[in-house]
Amino acid sequence: MKVLVTGAAGFIGMHCAQRLLARGDTVIGADNLSDYYSVDLKKARLKQLEPARGFRFLELDIAAPTALARLFEEIRPDAVLHLAAQPGVRYSLEHPEPYFQTNLVGFGRLLEACRHRKPKHLVFASSSSVFGANRKLPWSEADNVDHPVSLYAATKKSNELLAHAYCHLYGVPMTGLRFFTVYGPWGRPDMSPMLFAKAILEGKPIQVFNHGDMERDFTYIDDIAEGCLRVLDNPASSIPPYRIFNIGNHQPVRLTHYIEALERALGRKAILEMKPMQPGDVKATYADTAALRAAIGFAPATPLDAGLAKFAAWYKVYHRHG
Ligand SMILES: NC(=O)c1ccc[n+]([C@@H]2O[C@H](COP(=O)([O-])OP(=O)(O)OC[C@H]3O[C@@H](n4cnc5c(N)ncnc54)[C@H](O)[C@@H]3O)[C@@H](O)[C@H]2O)c1
Repeated sequence: MKVLVTGAAGFIGMHCAQRLLARGDTVIGADNLSDYYSVDLKKARLKQLEPARGFRFLELDIAAPTALARLFEEIRPDAVLHLAAQPGVRYSLEHPEPYFQTNLVGFGRLLEACRHRKPKHLVFASSSSVFGANRKLPWSEADNVDHPVSLYAATKKSNELLAHAYCHLYGVPMTGLRFFTVYGPWGRPDMSPMLFAKAILEGKPIQVFNHGDMERDFTYIDDIAEGCLRVLDNPASSIPPYRIFNIGNHQPVRLTHYIEALERALGRKAILEMKPMQPGDVKATYADTAALRAAIGFAPATPLDAGLAKFAAWYKVYHRHG
């Protein structure tokens, strides 16, 4: 199968591309190498993919007017795994522009390309943030998500709506995946595992929001990649062929317990700097994964300690901490 992976230089994109290549698929990776965080890290991820037969990388901006239309015309992908986005809840408070451009305009251009070239399946990244401040836990796909509390979340919810309309109108199967706090080797430097690991190993304080009174459903990257591929292989047969799934660990962890687990994995104690709740943040995330398991026979379940051990081992080698 020929799969277009957008955001292939990103954290989740690299792992999914690696898995697709390992099973013999052809992967066309597209990414604009945005400088939201270290471009060197993105290039290092691409270096992991480049030796594989069947991999080709194209640097392109999905929001550029004709970039995706021309790409689809040239490569005619069988399936599309769309992971390119401007991520981050907090960054969206100060820098709205890339969210409008990449997450809305870029997503629209992707849908147009799918409308005309009709891949067998488009799987796209949504986010647990669409649940906003919903209080009923765990969060289910059946819950109302009309109350986003950040621009980032609002763009992801918009993606789900736009995809539904295109799926209904043009019949291209589409599935949205709501990822829950993904962590692991080659992770994102703006997320807490990387931020905290760096500070802990440098003996600097870590900022603990809402005084540690938060819970997150941390999901290990290998589970995410496994889930993405299984979903990619299983488009909906309903009319319209559209589905949304939560993909999380179904096991929320208190922030303070997570910090203790990270301390164990790194072999160093953290210095805690307690902070109030941040605007746009939510207190707890918790994925109901029954629908995902029923559809693909799999749901993430890696225990936090096991995942953090692998993350810490990678982090120390990548950053040469002893
Ligand atoms: N990591 C998580 O915990 C998490 C949680 C919820 C949702 N998501 C979503 O999953 C997807 C992948 O996330 P990630 O953690 O791998 O993020 P990432 O930032 O590591 O990867 C996204 C990639 O998209 C690329 N990109 C950004 N704008 C682009 C553009 N205009 N054109 C082409 N490429 C562009 C970036 O350069 C980056 O390499 C994103 O859609 C993100 O919103 C991630």
